Amino acid sequence: MDSIIVRGGVPLHGQIPIAGAKNACLALMPATLLSEEPLTLTNAPRLSDIATMKTLLESLGAEVTAMAGGRVLAMSSHGLTTTRADYDIVRKMRASNLVLGPLLAREHHAVVSLPGGCAIGARPMDIHIDALTHLGAEIELRDGYLHAVAKGGLRGARVPLRFASVGATENTLMAATLARGTTVIENAAREPEIVDLAHCLRRMGARIEGEGTATITVEGVDRLNGATHPVVTDRIELGTYMLAPVIAGGEVECLGGRIDLVAAFVEKLHEAGVEVEETATGLIVRQNGTRPRAVDVVTEPFPGFPTDLQAQMMAMLCTAEGVSVLEERIFENRFMHAPELMRMGARIEVHGGTACVTGVERLRGAPVMATDLRASVSLILAGLAAEGETVVSRVYHLDRGYEELEKKLSAVGAQVERVRAS
Ligand code: EPZ
Repeated sequence: MDSIIVRGGVPLHGQIPIAGAKNACLALMPATLLSEEPLTLTNAPRLSDIATMKTLLESLGAEVTAMAGGRVLAMSSHGLTTTRADYDIVRKMRASNLVLGPLLAREHHAVVSLPGGCAIGARPMDIHIDALTHLGAEIELRDGYLHAVAKGGLRGARVPLRFASVGATENTLMAATLARGTTVIENAAREPEIVDLAHCLRRMGARIEGEGTATITVEGVDRLNGATHPVVTDRIELGTYMLAPVIAGGEVECLGGRIDLVAAFVEKLHEAGVEVEETATGLIVRQNGTRPRAVDVVTEPFPGFPTDLQAQMMAMLCTAEGVSVLEERIFENRFMHAPELMRMGARIEVHGGTACVTGVERLRGAPVMATDLRASVSLILAGLAAEGETVVSRVYHLDRGYEELEKKLSAVGAQVERVRAS
């Protein structure tokens, strides 16, 4: 397993290009199952999760061709060979469950393995199951697989979600595009990735209104066409790299960044005394030598503060001036980066879903272990300002969601290198 070595203390200067959004692409790729015509995605990120989704779609009989070094994904599913998504692929990535809605809509049946829990929580699928049942599906859990059937096809309905689940909204939205009649999704997730999926589905001929609000209305159609769609910018990669100059000092422009994608996060940066400037090409973040101020953070569904930036924000707050309280309200176990940051000298107390961080002058480099995708990158960020060397092991977690991380950080002056496992 590869490791990444970070030598701290170097202020950063330059530009970091932000890639297409992993979490948008992982919902856009299964959309190819809804049409017999080709769906092509541009601005796709080159990540191991995308490769996993490619393998899953190909296992169903779809064709996925990565072009331009993986930036363009040309897909078509004119001839599906099965509607069974096997455990050995689904267990690697929860987002595999996003083939359930499209397969039910197109083939009227699907057998999809339950993804199983992961490091950050149990991550059940009850909201997905309840929503698709409202659309007329019969779904039974047997030997670790969801066996779903929609006799005569799905039919439009009012679908109230008990929680604004991103994945459940995406599965329901895709399923509703081919359901007979009108579907109204209530308490829908409002994330930019949902909006991007709706834009793509509309390009394919779907009739959708209200994406980005809590109520999405879909008029089912008989069939969808092919389309070409650019993947929206990755707001989590954006927020991650915006924190690099805050932690290490300096000035960095994140190319392609847009304030509307990270409004709640930028509000917290302003509260911490960080300067963010919108330019024609992206967002500039500069930290003029003083330490950022402590701020309190509560993670919420969009447009609230994103849970996927909580670990990275904690890394910044470890050396902020004062005491910060972070409340993780989306996942039940998303503070695994805390003990690793404490190995670097951070002062953090965790109790249930609340973490209290008392800022210290500087962290000290140490060997630390990545546990999940966002925890991994928070350790890299912490290493940027730590005295000495930080060695982050198990970086395969990082490769799931960050394209060429060490290259992007080195380009702005960070001393970061990957050590290939022998
Ligand atoms: C998406 O996961 C993202 N993944 C996650 O990003 C992100 O953290 C999450 O949304 C929240 O924003 C992708 O888009 C591929 P949820 P998803 O359904 O859809 C509970 C990353 O780092 N829940 O909104 O799985 C669930 O357990 C990843 O890129 C149920 O109880 O998130 C969690 O506590 C991590 N029953 C909460 O809701 C359900 O049926 C939010 O889950 C579904 C979810």
